[in-house]
Amino acid sequence: VVEREQYKARIKSLLKEKNAVLIAHYYTDPEIQALAEETGGCVADSLEMARFGNNHSAETLIVAGVRFMGETAKVLTPEKTVLMPTLEATCSLDLACPIEEFNAFCDQHPDRTVVVYANTSTAVKARADWIVTSSCALEIVEHLDEQGEKILWGPDRHLGAYIEKQTGADMIMWQGACIVHDEFKTKALHDMKALHPDAAVLVHPESPAEIIELADAVGSTSQLIKAAQELPNQKFIVATDRGIFYKMQQLCPDKEFFEAPTAGEGATCRSCAHCPWMAMNGLKEIEQALLNPEGREVFVDATERTGALKSLDRMLSFNA
Ligand code: 13P
Ligand code: SF4
Repeated sequence: VVEREQYKARIKSLLKEKNAVLIAHYYTDPEIQALAEETGGCVADSLEMARFGNNHSAETLIVAGVRFMGETAKVLTPEKTVLMPTLEATCSLDLACPIEEFNAFCDQHPDRTVVVYANTSTAVKARADWIVTSSCALEIVEHLDEQGEKILWGPDRHLGAYIEKQTGADMIMWQGACIVHDEFKTKALHDMKALHPDAAVLVHPESPAEIIELADAVGSTSQLIKAAQELPNQKFIVATDRGIFYKMQQLCPDKEFFEAPTAGEGATCRSCAHCPWMAMNGLKEIEQALLNPEGREVFVDATERTGALKSLDRMLSFNA
């Protein structure tokens, strides 16, 4: 405990000394989220993280999350130093969507508007006409559908299927999935609902369709936190990364939150409701990023940056 407090104290003074701000995602460990809040940084969903970094005056952004979040920050603010606790923190969606293969897929469907989830590399974003996060994906696809556009969607197949169902848009999909959300189990969730019949079910749309069908609210991390505050229920079953409990419990201290089941009895799961890459963001790594930026600084290719900026700007100005 003493050691952790010492880390926090040193990080606080380094943030001041280096004119740096800590931006953390809701899936990082509670102490990282608390530190971001205490030091004037932010805890947010991926869209708000991008906006916060873009609007903040600090010279250096420390992005505690996964690689695509650091790259998005660098694309938006190339004049800033963007550091990450570790550059190894990736995302299964990003890994499942290499640019060469994605380019080939797009080339086969030149008549389609390319809409790409933010959980991708800068190169894939540069190929996109639009970038979306789960906060704005529905509205943007709805808007494109109203314009009569046919869509090529990538890489999350569950989010894509959910949007297709909600909007009725003409979509073809890349077949990626999030290793965390893909693990939620339908039968076990039915059983849990039976055990807590008064609980509302909150689901991130990266989850499989059968899980989404059981939801009382579906949305991005920030939308789920809002639902936890606004719904009258006292109990919630939450199908997303357990990092989100920190903020839900902070905003709703009298409500009870349960993790949606990731595995049936005796079974194993790969990620059990916590993203292994988000978990790589520790206090030690944050201190190292501030002391020893080499190997923790995010750089993006200049040409890819120009392409990605165009579609990221489109997203940020939509509904701004
Ligand atoms: P949000 O945009 O909802 O924060 O989601 C990001 C993410 O990686 C979910 O797995
Ligand atoms: Fe990627 Fe899933 Fe981790 Fe989010 S939770 S960063 S989608 S692997």
